[in-house]
Amino acid sequence: MASILIHNIRRLITPLAANKNDSGHPLHEIEHAAVWIEGGVIKEIGNSRDLMKRVPNTIERRDAQESLMLPGFVDCHTHPVFVGNRAGEFFMRNRGANYLDIAAAGGGIHASAKKIEDASIEQIVRESLPRFESSLSFGVTTIECKSGYGLTWKGEEKLLVALREIEKIVPQKMSKTFLIHVVPKEWNAKREEFSSLVTEEMIPEVAERALASCVDVFCEDGAFTVNESRRFLTAAKAEGMTVTIHANQFGHSGGALLAAELGARSADHLEYLNDEEIRSLVDAGVAGVALPACVFFMGSIPYPPMRKMLDSGMRLAIATDLNPGTAMTESIPFCMTAASIYGRLSIAELIWAVTFDAARVLGYEQQVGSLEAGKSADFSLWDVPNIESIAYLLGSSKPRQVWIGGESVLENDDILERY
Ligand code: NIG
Ligand code: FE
Repeated sequence: MASILIHNIRRLITPLAANKNDSGHPLHEIEHAAVWIEGGVIKEIGNSRDLMKRVPNTIERRDAQESLMLPGFVDCHTHPVFVGNRAGEFFMRNRGANYLDIAAAGGGIHASAKKIEDASIEQIVRESLPRFESSLSFGVTTIECKSGYGLTWKGEEKLLVALREIEKIVPQKMSKTFLIHVVPKEWNAKREEFSSLVTEEMIPEVAERALASCVDVFCEDGAFTVNESRRFLTAAKAEGMTVTIHANQFGHSGGALLAAELGARSADHLEYLNDEEIRSLVDAGVAGVALPACVFFMGSIPYPPMRKMLDSGMRLAIATDLNPGTAMTESIPFCMTAASIYGRLSIAELIWAVTFDAARVLGYEQQVGSLEAGKSADFSLWDVPNIESIAYLLGSSKPRQVWIGGESVLENDDILERY
């Protein structure tokens, strides 16, 4: 495992675990910094000149060339395993068609499910890998990945096995989630039976084979009801899994209140969120995950009340929602841009939401999410004048280097300094 000294960092910027409950989410900044890494883990962070003197000469040194260092981003909500695309549907929507109507007519999620039915695991892996490469190029070092386009067990199993294969190939740390998305068409007339199948067979098998550690459900009109969702997630908890919910995307579906009731690790989407729902989530200590790229891409739903969520004491993470239907992007920087404009968040709040607080959603905050001694050396190096530029560049900003576990996993010397 790597032992290395990264020196000549113009400024290192990170959340600190000790500040995790502070309002405003202050960032810790060190000018002229260096990071001493032993065995892939941060041993010490300090002044560059001082560490250059103190660290034994036998340790390899790398010059950060005055770039900025940030913790690797944690994308805590993605649907990266699918085949084909839904560009046609995107244009239909933009010209007036409704998302739920497209789904009811067999498009949307059902169209993706048909493609999974016909695909091999090898094809799913091959088509999905470039999305992981793209995600890494935006500085994402930990990624949550949902299944969900299989619908039936046959399809879901393919996706979960594909994810396990991908996990072996890509450098990113991964957190896997079994997503119960919608009722497969062939089960429409037998919903109750399908729910039993999910509860009594699919969830126990996912748990037993450790195919995922979390269960997610799309709790919405046209997907699953609150009672069905409660049944699935209660079964998941009984298996020792964590739970999360696609909640309140198209209305006050009851998903947010259910997340509070069940003590979910997060409630995600939350485009429709009133004061009572915010209060319940805060009281239950459930984090909210905002997905601004999805709101932008759909063009027809409101942004979640991010400012109010934070001001009410809710923990907030921001993720891409990468998926072929409602958010075709791997760009965390774009999500930061949108959350800054539509959520009125400060740069410090944005950084927390895509690093430490996203890691907390996944239960990974002991390992990743901030640059502190004892944590995995997962970081990115940026050639920007200041961190505000990352959101200011409207989704196109990329780091020059990405490191995971003290190893350089991406170097892009074509990145131009611009602002
Ligand atoms: O997070 N809302 C449900 N699931 C995905 C989109 C699914 C799709 O349209 O492919 C989401 O938006
Ligand atoms: Fe999603």
